[in-house]
Amino acid sequence: MPEGIVTVAYIAATILFILALGGLSHPETARRGNLYGIIGMSIAMLATIFGVVTANYVMLIVGLIAGGIIGLILARRVQMTQMPELVAILHSLVGLAAVLVGFVNFLDPEVHYTGVELTIHDVETYLGILIGAVTFSGSVIAFGKLSGKIGGAPLTLPARHWLNLALLLIAIWYGYQFVVQSAGGGNPVAGLPPGLVPLLVMTAVALLFGIHMVMAIGGADMPVVVSMLNSYSGWAAAATGFMLSNDLLIVTGALVGSSGAILSYIMCRAMNRRFLAVIAGGFGTAGSAAVGTAGDQGEVVPVNAMEAANLLVGSKEIMIVPGYGMAVAQAQHIVCEITKILRDKGINVRFGIHPVAGRMPGHMNVLLAEARVPYDIVFEMDEINEEFPDIDVSIVIGANDIVNPSAQEEPESPIAGMPVLEVWKGRTTIVLKRSMATGYAGVQNPLFFKENTRMLFGDARESLDEVLKEI
Ligand code: TAP
Repeated sequence: MPEGIVTVAYIAATILFILALGGLSHPETARRGNLYGIIGMSIAMLATIFGVVTANYVMLIVGLIAGGIIGLILARRVQMTQMPELVAILHSLVGLAAVLVGFVNFLDPEVHYTGVELTIHDVETYLGILIGAVTFSGSVIAFGKLSGKIGGAPLTLPARHWLNLALLLIAIWYGYQFVVQSAGGGNPVAGLPPGLVPLLVMTAVALLFGIHMVMAIGGADMPVVVSMLNSYSGWAAAATGFMLSNDLLIVTGALVGSSGAILSYIMCRAMNRRFLAVIAGGFGTAGSAAVGTAGDQGEVVPVNAMEAANLLVGSKEIMIVPGYGMAVAQAQHIVCEITKILRDKGINVRFGIHPVAGRMPGHMNVLLAEARVPYDIVFEMDEINEEFPDIDVSIVIGANDIVNPSAQEEPESPIAGMPVLEVWKGRTTIVLKRSMATGYAGVQNPLFFKENTRMLFGDARESLDEVLKEI
C-alpha cells in the first residue's frame, strides 16, 4: 500500500477516534460514538497491516486470531459488575506491550541513530519502558484489588514517600547512565549491549514503583486509580508511537492519555479528593470493615412490598437513585417497567445519578440505557441535588455510599467531603438492599436509621417484582 494512502487512512482514523470520544460523552450519542471507534480502529488496523508491516505476516495473523479469540471469550464471559477488573487487566497489556516494544526497539540491530537523534530516541525508549512498566505492574495490582484477590486496605509502609522519591531518583540516574552508555561513553558491562543494564535496572524499579503506588491506594479511591491507569496506558501507547515513529499511535495514545487524565480529575471532584492525595495513597478502607457508629443509631423501619407500592402510588414526585446493587441484581429492566407505569399515572418520576455510583464511570447510565429508560428523565447529581426537599418518595436501589449523610456530617468518616445525593431531605426514602451490610467504602450509613427512611430488605429485583405486582 503506498505511503500516501496509509497517511490518509491514519488521518481518517484519528478523526473517527475524536468523533468517538465526542459521541461517548452522552448516553444518547454513545452508540454512534462506539461505532465511530470501531470503524476508526478497523481502518487503523488495515492500514497498519497492509501499509506499514512488511514481513512476518504469518506471525501477525496467528497473533491477531489468537488475541481476537481470547478477547472475544473474555468479553462475552465478563459480568457488567466485573468490567473495571477487565479494564484494569487490559491496561496492563498496553503497559507490557510498551515495555516489550521498547526492549525490541533498543536491541534491534537495524535501528541506527547517531548524535542528537540517538539521544532523542534513547530518551523515548527509556520513557516508554518506564511508563509501560509502571502501567503494567500497577494495573495487575489494581486488577487484584478490584477482583478481591488482594485486600483493599492501603499498604502504608513507613517512609513510603521517601521510598517513592528514592525510586524516582534511581530512575533519573539510570536514565542518564543509559543515554551516556548508549552513546558510547560510561562503563557498560562487558559482553552486554551498552545501556542494557541501566535499562533493566530501571525496568525493575518502575515495576516496583507501580506495585507500591497502587498497593498504597485504599479501596475507596479505586475509581480514580482505574481512570488514572487508563491515562497511563494512553501515555505508554504514545511513547510506543514515538519509538516506532508511528503518528497514529502517538495521537491515539495522547487522546487516551488526556481523556483518562480528565476523567481522573472528574472522579476526584466527584469524591472531593485531591488527585495528588490519591496518588500519595493511604486512604480508604478494605471495603468490608464497618467504620462508624453502627450500633448506637437506633432502629430501622422495615416495610414490605405492599407498603412500598402504596407510598409510591400516593406520591407526585419520585426520585430513583440507583447504585451498585441495581447492577448486581440486574434490576434495571423492572425499574424501567415500574417507572413507565408510575409515569402513566401522572407521577413525575426522575433518576438521580451519582458520578461514582456502581463500579465504573457511567455504570448506571449504561444500565438505564440498556433498559431503555428515557434519557430526559435521567439527571446528574449536580442537576438534581437541590430538588430533594420537593420529592415525596426517593427510592434508593442498591446504593449506599452515594447517599450517605455522614460524608457531610462526620469529618472523621473515610468518605468525609464526598458529595452525596441528599435523599434524606425528601419526605420519605425507601432503601432497597439485602441486609444492613456496608457498601464499597465500608462505612455505616446513618440514612438507614433516619425517621423518614423505610427499608425494603431483599434482592432488589425480587423486591421490585413484588412492588410491581402491588402497583
Ligand atoms: P455501594 O456503596 O457499594 O453499595 C451498594 C449496596 O448495594 C450495598 O450496600 C449492598 O447492600 C447493596 N446490594 C448489593 N447487591 C444487592 C442486590 N442484589 N439487591 C439489593 N441490594 C444489593 O454502591 P454505591 O452506592 O453505588 O456507591 C459506589 C461505591 O463504589 C462508592 O464508594 C465508589 O467510590 C465506589 N467505586 C466506584 C467506582 C466507579 S467509577 N463508579 C469504581 C470503584 C469503586 P447489601 O449487601 O445489604 O444488599
